[in-house]
Amino acid sequence: NRVLVLAGGLTPEHEVSVRSGRRVADALRRLGVEVQIGDAGSGLVNTLTTDPPQVVFPVLHGTSGEDGAIREVLELSGIPYVGARPEACRIAYAKPIAKTLLAREGVAVPRGLALPKALFHDLGAPAVLERIVAALGLPLFVKPDQGGSAFGASAVATASELPAALVSCFAYSDTALIEEQVSGTEIAVGVLDMGDGPVALPAVEIVPDGGVYDYTARYTAGRTEFFSPARLTPEAAKAAAEAAVTAHRALGLRDVSRTDLIVDDSGRVHFLEVNVSPGMTETSTLPLAVEAAGMDFAIVCRELAHRALL
Ligand code: DAL
Ligand code: MG
Repeated sequence: NRVLVLAGGLTPEHEVSVRSGRRVADALRRLGVEVQIGDAGSGLVNTLTTDPPQVVFPVLHGTSGEDGAIREVLELSGIPYVGARPEACRIAYAKPIAKTLLAREGVAVPRGLALPKALFHDLGAPAVLERIVAALGLPLFVKPDQGGSAFGASAVATASELPAALVSCFAYSDTALIEEQVSGTEIAVGVLDMGDGPVALPAVEIVPDGGVYDYTARYTAGRTEFFSPARLTPEAAKAAAEAAVTAHRALGLRDVSRTDLIVDDSGRVHFLEVNVSPGMTETSTLPLAVEAAGMDFAIVCRELAHRALL
């Protein structure tokens, strides 16, 4: 049984994906599974047609991998793959749309607005700043409407920081998602569906050493302290698990996802985003959550690959 792990991709998260892919591939190989690692470049269609694997395990982060594009190719090729279908990915990957749908399901989401780059240029920075701050107050969080690994994302404490935050955000996407900054504890809740419906893994609490969970804090060993499971009250832990399962179900995801949340000081859980291809690196939270649940990461990977074949 040959598994093709797809990793890399033409995105800012290329390196992260390579690390995630290597970890998944190594885990599967340790169990004796025959694994090949491939990039999602132009050679992919050729590989899928001339030397088709039994199953594809996409570990691609960001555009193509998480927006559904590569999975459309996999659908067309007829080769089974791990994870959500293209249409579900499209919705989950578009943060403002995912937020709107989850708010309808009763999940708390930070107040926010989506600002297209063109509007920012048309209206001019001063007018935009004024309106945003009037609508949402301060502090704010600015991030690309699509993306990951904190690329183009920044916290904004004062109005004067907003233009620079928008400019770096627009380097990654044509639309910025600007949100009120909810203060509290950042947690990530993995969800696995191994055949009995989606089940939340224990929440992992994220405490970056400089207070900001940016790219360096995410992917440099020792820069972020993780509490796995998170130090939550039983009520907050339950609410977090429910929010993550609701996200997985409501967005129509499959097999695996990870929902990122903030637990505020009153224990209320606020949705930030959901990842259809969560990081699997040595410093990523999903593998930690799998271990916290008493499961073996390699066996989970093999099970996911196996289930795709059913
Ligand atoms: N986008 C990165 C890989 C994550 O959410 O884990
Ligand atoms: Mg993400």
